Formats: sequence, structure tokens, C-alpha cells
Amino acid sequence: MKYPLPPCSPRSMVVGGITALLLIGSASAQAQDAATLQSRALAATCAPCHGTAGHAIDASVVPGLAGLPAGTFIEQMNGFKSGTRTATVMHQIAKGFNDAQVDQLAAYFAAQKK
Ligand code: HEC
Repeated sequence: MKYPLPPCSPRSMVVGGITALLLIGSASAQAQDAATLQSRALAATCAPCHGTAGHAIDASVVPGLAGLPAGTFIEQMNGFKSGTRTATVMHQIAKGFNDAQVDQLAAYFAAQKK
């Protein structure tokens, strides 16, 4: 008679262990560059609307940010802040970031492949 494997079967523990090791390995590699991690964390706040790393999903009404030239990015963010560029939501979001953070985000998104 065959029984289904319990959730903690040796096989699932091996798979889980390997997955955990892979995650630890990639996390420590990223931690080597704290600035990169910080940029990614900042950019992650934009992901719900602009997509992961600025890659908007197909047919999204929100523009993607990946590959946007840094100068254009900064210009748009400052335009949202000052009100010279009208917006539905970005005028509020842009005000939450200081110049150094906008520069950091600009460099991050400019470096992403379109
Ligand atoms: C709640 C959804 C939302 C979030 C979160 C969001 N955006 Fe936006 N973003 C928009 C929308 C919508 C537009 C189009 C302008 C508007 O209507 O506000 C836009 C436009 C932009 C533009 C202009 C792009 C272009 O090509 O004209 C930039 C730059 C931008 N966002 C940067 C950011 C950054 C940086 C973040 C994260 C810090 C962010 N956005 C987070 C919704 C969002």
C-alpha cells in the first residue's frame, strides 16, 4: 500500500535545504554592495506601478522606467515636485524623495536594460 509523502519527507528537506543555501548565497553576494542594495530597495517602491526594475508589464498605462536617461528622469521628478508636469499620482510620490535619492534612482533606472 502506498502512502503520500508527508510534507517533511527527506526529499522535500533536501530540496528546501538547497533552496535555502542558494538564497543565502545570492543574499550575501548582494550585501557586498550596500549602495546597490539600497538603490534596489528605493526602486522597489516604484515596482507596483512601474514594474520590477522599471519594466512595466505589456499594455500598462503606467510608463516603464528601465533605460530612461538619468537627465530625463531627474527632469520629470523635479517637474512632478514643482507642478510643471501635471500628474495623477507622481506629484505626491516625487515629493517623498530628496535630490540625492532622485539621483540614485535616476542612475539605477538608467542602468536597466529596456
Ligand atoms: C501608484 C502608482 C505609482 C507608483 C508607486 C510610482 N509611480 Fe511613477 N508614475 C505613475 C503614473 C500613473 C505616472 C504617469 C504620471 C501621473 O499620472 O502621475 C508615472 C510617471 C512617472 C515618471 C515619468 C515617466 C515618463 O516617461 O514620463 C517617472 C520618472 C516616475 N513615474 C518615477 C517613479 C519613481 C521613481 C517611483 C518610485 C519612487 C514611482 N514613479 C512610483 C504611477 C506610479
